[in-house]
Amino acid sequence: MRALELNGVSVYYGAVRGVEDVDLYVDEGEIVALLGANGAGKSTLLKAISGIIHPRHGSIAFFGDNFGKLSAHRRVIQGLVHVPEGRRIFTTLTIGENLELGAYGTQRNRTERARRLNEVLGLFPLLQQHFQRLAGTLSGGEQQVLAIGRAMMSNPRVLMIDEPSLGLDPQKVDIVYDMLEEVAKLGTTVLLVEQNVSLALEIASRAYVLQQGSVVLSGPSASLVDDSRLSDAYLGKSADDHD
Ligand SMILES: Nc1ncnc2c1ncn2[C@@H]1O[C@H](COP(=O)(O)OP(=O)(O)O)[C@@H](O)[C@H]1O
Ligand SMILES: [Mg+2]
Repeated sequence: MRALELNGVSVYYGAVRGVEDVDLYVDEGEIVALLGANGAGKSTLLKAISGIIHPRHGSIAFFGDNFGKLSAHRRVIQGLVHVPEGRRIFTTLTIGENLELGAYGTQRNRTERARRLNEVLGLFPLLQQHFQRLAGTLSGGEQQVLAIGRAMMSNPRVLMIDEPSLGLDPQKVDIVYDMLEEVAKLGTTVLLVEQNVSLALEIASRAYVLQQGSVVLSGPSASLVDDSRLSDAYLGKSADDHD
């Protein structure tokens, strides 16, 4: 089953091209990576899928249903969650409060909210350990773990995450990537945006490479690892170009 299917998606910011004519699909249960240099259009594509911005052309279908102009909020209720670049957790709230805020669609259902909280805390013991701590006192890696935990509180069918490794030291990156694998094992489909190619290709079954708003390369991760077109599209930049 296609969890996500994009056909001919173009997004513009006024006259500035975000992405152009993108075709992409993610099957249920897959981890798919979306790669590309800074400014390639990765975040733009995630924002279009989550409904924060609307494409000028093209269609986005979620488990076979066209999203059309459905609001971002309704998309979360339908099972699509987006962990944005920079994580956006609430630093003056506790971990527990941050998690509660992720429980979309449970306003009138305390039992369901409690069930999800138990499930997420069971999965990610780190969040259980620090439940009462203010989120602002967590390290960057721990904040990323919290952001993923909060996303899982919405009981998503598809989780999209934007540059989870950005700014984290290698050890913390491992924790975050282990967590993403846990999420996938639960049956949640993952669309992963990364600038770190080798890291993403390790856990993704397939990848798409964006360059200046267009898909220039796609295929199974194993076939991309040694593809020189990948470095052409991508590694022309240096690691310190990160924003
Ligand atoms: N809010 C915005 N207004 C105008 N241009 C934007 C905006 N956001 C992104 N862009 C432009 O769209 C293109 C794609 O950006 P983005 O999706 O953020 O790339 P990536 O996430 O791959 O680094 C870039 O040229 C960028 O400058
Ligand atoms: Mg980005």
